[in-house]
Amino acid sequence: MSAAIITLETLENAAHKLIIQRPSSGISLHGHIRVPGDKSISHRALMLGAIADGETQIQGLLLGEDPRSTAVCFQALGAEISPLNTQLVRVKGIGLGNLLEPADVLDAGNSGTTLRLMLGLLASHSKRFFTVTGDRSLRSRPMSRVIKPLQQMGAEIWGRQANSLAPLAVTGQILKPIHYHSPIASAQVKSCILLAGLNTEGETTVTEPALSRDHSERMLSAFGAQVTVNPENHSVTITGPAQLSGQTVIVPGDISSAAFWLVAGAIVPGSDLVVENVGVNPTRTGILEALAMMGVDIQKENFREVAGEPVADLRVRYQGSLNSFTLSGDLIPRLIDEIPILAVAAIFARGTTIIRDASELRVKECDRITVMAQQLQKLGAKITELPDGMEILGGTPLVGTQLDSHSDHRIAMSLAIAGLNAIGSTEIARAEAAAISYPNFSQTLQEIAQIA
Ligand code: S3P
Repeated sequence: MSAAIITLETLENAAHKLIIQRPSSGISLHGHIRVPGDKSISHRALMLGAIADGETQIQGLLLGEDPRSTAVCFQALGAEISPLNTQLVRVKGIGLGNLLEPADVLDAGNSGTTLRLMLGLLASHSKRFFTVTGDRSLRSRPMSRVIKPLQQMGAEIWGRQANSLAPLAVTGQILKPIHYHSPIASAQVKSCILLAGLNTEGETTVTEPALSRDHSERMLSAFGAQVTVNPENHSVTITGPAQLSGQTVIVPGDISSAAFWLVAGAIVPGSDLVVENVGVNPTRTGILEALAMMGVDIQKENFREVAGEPVADLRVRYQGSLNSFTLSGDLIPRLIDEIPILAVAAIFARGTTIIRDASELRVKECDRITVMAQQLQKLGAKITELPDGMEILGGTPLVGTQLDSHSDHRIAMSLAIAGLNAIGSTEIARAEAAAISYPNFSQTLQEIAQIA
């Protein structure tokens, strides 16, 4: 029955159009969902496994395109990585400082995490030359945020537009430790510098203005590096050179992927969903706080700790009217990837929602402020772009139309959830982008959607 509501059309060049046909009685969502593995943790498990001594075993790896880019890059750098699957991936590490000079350009695809974190490692591999690039989106994203601190450490990196854009060329050097005060709260910047510090004699410290996700710190410690965290001033110190040994990593479900279902359950009348095995690391749970501000009661069941990361099952039930909310300040880095889907949630809340301090969204896989505002306006939503966020007036009914993901995975999935509450038919072009972080998103939507 649900296949009639949600259809996926395959077009030329493997492009997909996702069509949501809302019957006049409406749609409701029911079921138990397992979201794929956390993207941030998947990248880090592959990278640390590649540079550790001995074997790393990864369970629950995300099989999305982004971690695949990381795997391909680190294979080219000399690590042996078994075929990717969710059950078990084995990474035979080559030991810290031993990455090989690849014969070709390293391609990070669409993945900012792959490129920025890898750069810290490459810059600290002296006497080796590397070239790195990415897809059209990644080649337009700012790299100076990691290149500048790496240069302060003594790195030699060249790129387009005054060393700020990929493709990049790197001549590895023996680096010197620094204390870097990052102007932005970014886990990618922090992790890049910490990875450069791994192979650098002395103490390398990163202080950030607000706490960003801390998966690198947790996993580096688990692999045996000496990491000191000072929560008071959001700083992390790594002592190099470190000795890493292969570990077993169990990747929890990605809360950024769960977020689509949590919001869908809250806004689609009659819904009742349980999302199982979700990573609830406090540096990532801003979405739960935002939903609480809206008056959505998310029940945390089965709370447990798995391989150094907290995990829970999350249950959401449609409860009727929602409150508008304000997102700003230190909360932003803790829900940065969830802002597109929270913008969708705000359309169904009473009053005006304000999102500020989120100019980082303009340099994600696309300009997520402009694209979300434009696409949701096409559905009839009342959204005003702000330089660093958006203002959303809730309560306007949505009418289905033709939308475009702009090849951004989180935009594709956010628009699909908006379409569930839009009258008639909503078509999302370039919906295949979802496979970056959530390969089976459309199939899961088909499974849980029912005619109300
Ligand atoms: C990530 C950090 C975040 C996030 C991205 C993944 C990571 O980016 O948006 O999807 O794995 O470190 P920033 O650190 O640049 O904010």
